[in-house]
Amino acid sequence: MSILPICIYPEPVLRQKTEPVQNIDDGIQRLIDDMIETMYDAPGIGLAANQVGRSLSILVIDIQREESEYGLIVLMNPGLVDARGKVTFEEGCLSVPEYFAKVTRYEEVVVRGLDRQGERIEIAAGGLLAIALQHEMDHLEGKLFIDRIGPIARDIFKRKWKKKLKDGEESQPCLD
Ligand code: NI
Repeated sequence: MSILPICIYPEPVLRQKTEPVQNIDDGIQRLIDDMIETMYDAPGIGLAANQVGRSLSILVIDIQREESEYGLIVLMNPGLVDARGKVTFEEGCLSVPEYFAKVTRYEEVVVRGLDRQGERIEIAAGGLLAIALQHEMDHLEGKLFIDRIGPIARDIFKRKWKKKLKDGEESQPCLD
């Protein structure tokens, strides 16, 4: 296993819709192992494959809370099948370091996808897990949490980020 470099906004791969996984081969298994290691190392509670430069519909999540019945989640080709309620929570993202903003999402979700063996799984989640699932599924669509903040907050973010890039905190190369 190895720790992969994380793509930082505005790296273009973060803006591309990812491709569904067709064939769960050794390369995919290795990528999943590396994503898990990279997420724990960061540390983060979730990671999407395009955050490590691979435009594939794979996410890993571990919210690291005892109350979560799921533990480490590996999900491929996920889709939202049910959702209800609204909740606002302060989010961050490994691809947008040192920036946090309130985002409103569904409070409860039901998500279907494939596990790493290719078996169909369904996850019914509330709380932090529901938020993490929606955040990571957004990544797979090429969407970031900064797309879901209000216009004023986004303006402030853009100015802040421009300054940060100008100050020499450059995006690291993250593609194979
Ligand atoms: Ni993120």
